[in-house]
Amino acid sequence: MSHRILVTGASGYLGGTLLARWKEAQLPPYSKLYALVRKQEQANAVKEYGAEPITIDCQDPEAIKKTLVDNKITIILYLIDALGKTSVPFIEGLSEVKEATGQDVHFVFTTGAKLFSSHVGTPTDKPLLDTNPALYDIQKSLDVPSSNGWMRVAVDANNTVIEKAGDLGVRAYIFAPCIVYGKGEGFGNKISIQTVAIVKAAKKVRRVYKVDKGRPTWPVCHVVDNSTLYLEIVRNILAGKDIGHGRDGYFLGSAGSVAWDDLYAAMAQAMAKRGAVDDAEVKEADDEVLQKMGNALDSHKEMVPVHLGGSCTFTAEHGRKIGWKPQYEAQHILEAADEEVELILENLE
Ligand SMILES: NC(=O)c1ccc[n+]([C@@H]2O[C@H](COP(=O)([O-])OP(=O)(O)OC[C@H]3O[C@@H](n4cnc5c(N)ncnc54)[C@H](OP(=O)(O)O)[C@@H]3O)[C@@H](O)[C@H]2O)c1
Repeated sequence: MSHRILVTGASGYLGGTLLARWKEAQLPPYSKLYALVRKQEQANAVKEYGAEPITIDCQDPEAIKKTLVDNKITIILYLIDALGKTSVPFIEGLSEVKEATGQDVHFVFTTGAKLFSSHVGTPTDKPLLDTNPALYDIQKSLDVPSSNGWMRVAVDANNTVIEKAGDLGVRAYIFAPCIVYGKGEGFGNKISIQTVAIVKAAKKVRRVYKVDKGRPTWPVCHVVDNSTLYLEIVRNILAGKDIGHGRDGYFLGSAGSVAWDDLYAAMAQAMAKRGAVDDAEVKEADDEVLQKMGNALDSHKEMVPVHLGGSCTFTAEHGRKIGWKPQYEAQHILEAADEEVELILENLE
């Protein structure tokens, strides 16, 4: 029996672009492509991409497992929740499919580069490769206080996926997008997260502010390259290759890193040009400014650097080892900052 694949988050920024790029990827043969949807218009939209819509009440673990078993789904691309609130029943459902069919089953979980950064106490004094065999142990030993809200939950979610999948014979992959930019190509959300936070906060305080000391860097990736990494993982799975899973299954989607300072400067230029900030000078945020930026981001002032700053030396190597070649170098995000700001302002309005 060949694979049946479930893509989730198809109305989102990452999942939408992934689905839009699906056909041209010319993947090896598989049996069927499903897309998880929650509305009729989404169901109609995913059909245009050759996917059969599927609806699951994700609050109901039994419904998740039953749907996977009934449809004999063997590969899941999970892009709906980095906190992994429903990851366990999806993994359990895959395991039941494996038991019933004898086929290998795969769970690609989407986390985020923040969970491999200074925000959760990951060492940032040297590059941390996504092929580092100690990544699980590093994540497991992170001392993220529970007062640190969702980041504690998100780190635990990565570990739980690896542990649960390992126990149940499911091959798990931890896919970490970083600062993703570029116009979303799907039918739903067209804009990303961190670049959007920079624009939202700057609009509110009429200036782009830096939120860290020094010149920290962060990995970046064009949304198309992020999608082709998912596709390369699927291609390898369909070809029957073992690309490393579980503790060896981390993938960072990134072409390289840039300094936040350079990104702020490029975006400040673009915002000043459109009158969205008073001028293009980037200043250091003080407490009062952080408070206002927090208001714009619906967040406490202490969490503002988590939205748009911090240090992350997570470095992508795994994708290239399985044949992924990003089209856009890291510096491209600076060249594309003008377009990015235009896109975000349009979509925020
Ligand atoms: N974009 C980035 O730069 C970035 C970076 C790091 C990590 N990530 C993580 O990657 C994931 C996808 O990001 P994104 O930017 O594509 O987010 P997004 O544009 O907000 O899309 C989220 C998708 O998840 C779907 N969804 C959420 N809850 C669901 C549920 N209970 N049942 C079914 N569908 C549900 C949404 O469907 P509806 O349209 O029906 O709401 C939507 O399709 C997120 O977990 C995000 O934290 C993203």
